[in-house]
Formats: sequence, structure tokens, C-alpha cells
Amino acid sequence: MRTFGFESTTEDVIAGQDLTGRVALVTGASAGLGVETARTLAGAGATVCLLARDRDRLDAALATLRGENLPGRLESALLDLADLDQVRAAGEGLLKSFPKIDILVNNAGVMACPFGHTAQGFEMQLGTNHIGHFLLTGLLLPALKAAGTAQHAARVVNLSSAGHRFSAMDFDDPNYERRPYDKWQSYGQSKTANVLFSVALDARLADSHVRAFAVHPGAISTELGRHLNPDDMAQIAASFPGGKMAFKSVPQGAATSVWAATAPELEGKGGLYLEDCQIAQAGGEDSMAGVQPWATDREAAERLWQLSQQWVEQEFA
Ligand SMILES: NC(=O)c1ccc[n+]([C@@H]2O[C@H](COP(=O)([O-])OP(=O)(O)OC[C@H]3O[C@@H](n4cnc5c(N)ncnc54)[C@H](OP(=O)(O)O)[C@@H]3O)[C@@H](O)[C@H]2O)c1
Repeated sequence: MRTFGFESTTEDVIAGQDLTGRVALVTGASAGLGVETARTLAGAGATVCLLARDRDRLDAALATLRGENLPGRLESALLDLADLDQVRAAGEGLLKSFPKIDILVNNAGVMACPFGHTAQGFEMQLGTNHIGHFLLTGLLLPALKAAGTAQHAARVVNLSSAGHRFSAMDFDDPNYERRPYDKWQSYGQSKTANVLFSVALDARLADSHVRAFAVHPGAISTELGRHLNPDDMAQIAASFPGGKMAFKSVPQGAATSVWAATAPELEGKGGLYLEDCQIAQAGGEDSMAGVQPWATDREAAERLWQLSQQWVEQEFA
């Protein structure tokens, strides 16, 4: 029986696993946790397609991983989640290249950016972190269904965050059209959306052998903090028990994503929020650990699914 925790690394959770013949796609694979996730999956033999929005950064990540002579084949494709036309074009291309997809890690994200909008006018954090991933996943469903079997479900991993505690979904004004913008509340809403999407996706697709998980990776020093100032950092630290943040290394941070994507002990399960390579408990009011009830509410999950279909002007499953 394998047991993991806060300190477990990608190397720990992938030990003994052979992903030869499997296909995995990772968004946001030009930096941070995405690169480490891609490296680990390819290291176990999977064909991995790195997805990112910036050609130079994507090429640099690809060159780094190719230089490591990993056993799995490495591919790449451009994907800007903040433009649904680009997501649609990328999704269609990916379906042609990969008729079967075993693992989709929706890892890309922006955090606490200044108020802004995606190409189609959605608030930037909700648009990038949830809406773009919703469309991408919907477009790739035929390939996920084609890969999933009763013994081995295809898996969709949605990177959420303990920051989901900063806000439930505001269904009255999700895009900040009538309320003042708050960068943390907006990040929290988008990360709640990532969990609700996992719950709804799993409920709809478990019978088709596609399972979904939401992941809190921990606090890891990456480029995610690019929009933060020292006051923001102090505010975040204060929200941790004792005012101290416990940081993880990048291999520790990506471990829960890899566990969600590959762990045999999660076979037959889905619609769950994971942290520290474990299934999380319900979160308390004064702790950063666990999942808040508004993020796993089935009614809210279904409501977000319907709204997301309207946003992307396409119905799935
Ligand atoms: N690090 C943490 O402490 C932490 C904690 C909780 C949750 N998370 C979650 O973990 C995930 C990965 O974060 P990270 O720490 O690895 O951050 P990161 O180093 O900033 O990497 C984020 C990735 O997302 C990509 N991205 C941003 N906007 C995009 C867009 N419009 N289209 C396509 N790709 C886009 C970035 O591309 P560029 O290279 O072009 O910018 C980058 O590849 C995020 O979803 C984040 O919310 C992280």
C-alpha cells in the first residue's frame, strides 16, 4: 500500500509505473509545475504533448526535456487559453494528432493579475483558468472517451488551489461587470470553478470511463507570483497557520498532479479534490487545508457546466 504526503515528489509517486503507449497532454507546460509534470510523465514512457501560449518559451521547455533523453516521445502545440478561437483551432488539431488521449492535465493558470479581459471579453482569471480549459476539454472528449476503458479510465486533472477558499462562484456577476474587481476574490472564484468543473465532468463522464480530479499542488515558488508585490506576499503568508507559509519544491508541487493522473489507487474514483498526494478532507474555516463545500456542490457544478456551455457556445456530453 503506497502512502504519500506533503513531502512526496514526482519521483516517489511515479515509481514503478510504466506509461508506455499512453498519451498525455499538459497545458501551461512552458514553466513551473507544467514542465515538471510533463517531464515525469514522459520519464515513465508516455507520449507527452506540451501545450503553451508562447512559442519561444514552449520551444525552450521542449528543448530542455528533449535534452534529458526521456523514454517517452515529446510533442508540442501552441495554445492560448485566453482566446477561444485559438483554443478551438488547437483542440481540432490535437484531436487529429491524438485520436486517443489517456491523460489531460489542465495546469495552466494566471493568479491575481490586474483587471483584464480575454479575447472574447471574459474576466481574465476566470477566462484563462476555467473557460479556456472547459472548451479545450470538451473538444478533446472524443479522444478521452476513446482512450478510457473499464480497467483504466482516462483522466482529466484540473489544477485548482487552496485559494479556492477566497471565493465561491458568483453566478450573478462572474465577470465583474457590476462589482468592483478584487484580484484575490477573482483568483478564488476561478479556482472554485476548477473544482466544480471536475465534479460536473466526472458525474457526466464516469460511465464513459473518463474521470476527473481537482488538485491543490501546495505553495511553490514559480512564476505564478509574477503579479504579486511584497504586501501581497505578506497577506498570503498571514493566511497560513502561524503566519508562516510552508513551501514545496517544484517536484513536490507537481507530485499531486502526477498522482491524480496516474495513481492506481485512484482507479474507480473521481470528482475529488486532492492535495499532498491524498484525497482531501472537508476544509475548516481557519485552515488552508481541505476543500470548501461550495467547490464540491453538485448543483453549483451543474449550473457552472450549463453557463460554461453558453459561454463557449457549444454543448458537450
Ligand atoms: N505555484 C503555486 O504555489 C500554486 C499554488 C496553487 C495552485 N497553483 C496552480 O498550479 C498551476 C500551475 O502554476 P505554476 O505555479 O506552475 O505557475 P507558472 O510557473 O506561472 O506557470 C503557469 C503556466 O500557465 C501558462 N499560461 C498562463 N496564461 C496562459 C494562457 N492564456 N494560455 C496558455 N497558457 C497560459 C504560463 O504560460 P507563460 O509561460 O506563457 O506565462 C505557464 O506555462 C496553476 O493553475 C496555478 O493556479 C499553483
